[in-house]
Amino acid sequence: MRATPLVPPIKCQGIKTKLVGDIADLAGELPNGRWIEPFCGSGVVALSLQPKRALLCDTNVHIIRLYQEIQAHKLDAHSVRQYLVEHGDKLRTIGEDYFYEVRERFNQSPNSLDFLFLNRSCFNGVMRFNRSGKFNVPFCRKPERFAPAYVTKIVNQVLAVAKVLSVSDWEFRVADFKQALACAGADDFVYADPPYAGRHTDYFNGWSEQDEIDLADTLAGLPCRFILSTWHSNQFRTNQLIEQNWSAGDFHVFTKAHYYHVGAAEELRHPMLEALITNFGHERTDAVREGQQQFLFVEQPRAQYIS
Ligand SMILES: C[S@@+](CC[C@H](N)C(=O)[O-])C[C@H]1O[C@@H](n2cnc3c(N)ncnc32)[C@H](O)[C@@H]1O
Repeated sequence: MRATPLVPPIKCQGIKTKLVGDIADLAGELPNGRWIEPFCGSGVVALSLQPKRALLCDTNVHIIRLYQEIQAHKLDAHSVRQYLVEHGDKLRTIGEDYFYEVRERFNQSPNSLDFLFLNRSCFNGVMRFNRSGKFNVPFCRKPERFAPAYVTKIVNQVLAVAKVLSVSDWEFRVADFKQALACAGADDFVYADPPYAGRHTDYFNGWSEQDEIDLADTLAGLPCRFILSTWHSNQFRTNQLIEQNWSAGDFHVFTKAHYYHVGAAEELRHPMLEALITNFGHERTDAVREGQQQFLFVEQPRAQYIS
């Protein structure tokens, strides 16, 4: 059964809502141990697959704080609704200056409700921080942003997260990927979705070729199964790091075309071939897949890693 995405209350660059079904398919049975995500981002993958036990890490303290507060009931449907109605009203009355007031306040003294407000009313619904770690996305120019239906949608997303967390044994931790992966044992499963090298770079998303190599080395040495998300190619470029890092050893590369709806102009215009790299194979079970609308990932023969 393909997992249906549980849409989280926050959005981020490279969010994998559209790949959740494929990741679930490829992962197969959930692990006896923990589902580990060293780059949890919006959390959409874990929230949709709903493993019983999970370790979800990210260097972005604002994301982790938000989920920790939902988990601890410090932030719930009631407080989110109250906040969004009050501050949505101010945005409507004062206009975009109010967005910048909240942004300034958040950058002086970060808190989860302002973070949610900014993430859901900024341009393109992205999450970007400047070199000093300050949120710097401009306003989306819709003073009516927090209309009642939109507030209800966000409140329901928070409720859905709270519901999953109430029946799960999950830990959210601010950690670098190396610390997160050092926790992996033989019964765990790792889903790694790092920033794409050379794209979307900001305070929390600086990602170099060396990081990619370090990640590949760490993943290759894991005692458990893993899936690594990366990009394979678009019309203009091919990810040379796939061949460089993954052509030796028993790894598998699956690809699928995917359109991004947020991000740089190049990605908006052109499909990106996504890659999922694993240290385990995958048998096609076509009967299960019949009638499914989404394209499935296709395994790339080794010789065609680089097209
Ligand atoms: C592509 S996003 C993950 C998207 C996520 N899978 C989703 O569907 O929403 C990458 C995430 O990695 C985090 N990150 C960047 N560098 C990191 C590092 N060195 N260690 C851990 N997390 C990092 C970023 O803050 C960002 O949230």
